[in-house]
Amino acid sequence: MFGPMKDLAGKTAVVTGAASGLGLAFANQFAKDGMNVVMSDIEQPRLDEAVAQVETHGTRVVGIITDVSDGDSMDALAAATFEAFESVNVLCNNAGVAGGLTTEGIDSANWKWVLDVNLFGVVHGHRVFLPHMVEHGDGHIVNTASMAGHFPGHSAYTASKWAVVGITMGLLNEMRQNDTGVGVSCLCPGWVDTQIANSDRNIPEWAAPAALVEPTEEQEFRMQFLKDVLAAGKTPESVAQMVRDAIVNDSFWIFTHPEMVDQLAAKHASIMENRNPEPFSLLD
Ligand SMILES: NC(=O)c1ccc[n+]([C@@H]2O[C@H](COP(=O)([O-])OP(=O)(O)OC[C@H]3O[C@@H](n4cnc5c(N)ncnc54)[C@H](O)[C@@H]3O)[C@@H](O)[C@H]2O)c1
Repeated sequence: MFGPMKDLAGKTAVVTGAASGLGLAFANQFAKDGMNVVMSDIEQPRLDEAVAQVETHGTRVVGIITDVSDGDSMDALAAATFEAFESVNVLCNNAGVAGGLTTEGIDSANWKWVLDVNLFGVVHGHRVFLPHMVEHGDGHIVNTASMAGHFPGHSAYTASKWAVVGITMGLLNEMRQNDTGVGVSCLCPGWVDTQIANSDRNIPEWAAPAALVEPTEEQEFRMQFLKDVLAAGKTPESVAQMVRDAIVNDSFWIFTHPEMVDQLAAKHASIMENRNPEPFSLLD
């Protein structure tokens, strides 16, 4: 049986969605802890700027343009990673996009985009890095889910994040049953001050709504509300410290907002008592 990864210095981390927000903060934190970092993202030149920033901590940093939703692109990320470094010890499957927040105005192509990035990005990450980590036994995977992965929401985002929570719990079981020594954490952030409300900057043409319609007043209000709560949210740097601590302490759940965890009690109570759930929205 392997123990948790107590010492990060000299080891290698791969972070997806590393050009912005949480991913960039993870990369900075890992480099400060003496780790070499592979930073991957779909967005250039933002990734180049992010790499230059993380390099200032003095470890080796490599930036690789990757589309996590594309299996071939993820194969290429793994190949480039193993060309640069012998081993991968930490993998953060973090890249994600918001998509539409309710079913109105979101079509099937948009749903596919969100699931391809948020869910299949994680699936591909496991596929291309997990066998290596299991072989070496000294690794830890952090999947970025969301509090949206615990609460109802009629959107592709909610579907993708419930799926990430489920497969991450499943991965933990497998890693333990097979005594692989690979640790697993499920990051469930509440509101964090990042660029997630501007995810559409990375939308592929095939997934963009065919006819751009003016948002309704209600939609504009909700979007502004989302931007306001994000701006007032936790800093990505504070969440990066939680992620680092979870890796060295081998903790599975990473909840950034304890008050939101308290709200889960009502959901669990309705299940235990076989009652219809109370109406609930993270955006109310
Ligand atoms: N910010 C929050 O409040 C919050 C809350 C819960 C969960 N999350 C999750 O945190 C993760 C990081 O998002 P963030 O909040 O830092 O937002 P962000 O927009 O600041 O960063 C996301 C990064 O992912 C990249 N990306 C988008 N599509 C990609 C693709 N196909 N391939 C590779 N990279 C891609 C973007 O270019 C960007 O650099 C996401 O999974 C998001 O769902 C965020």
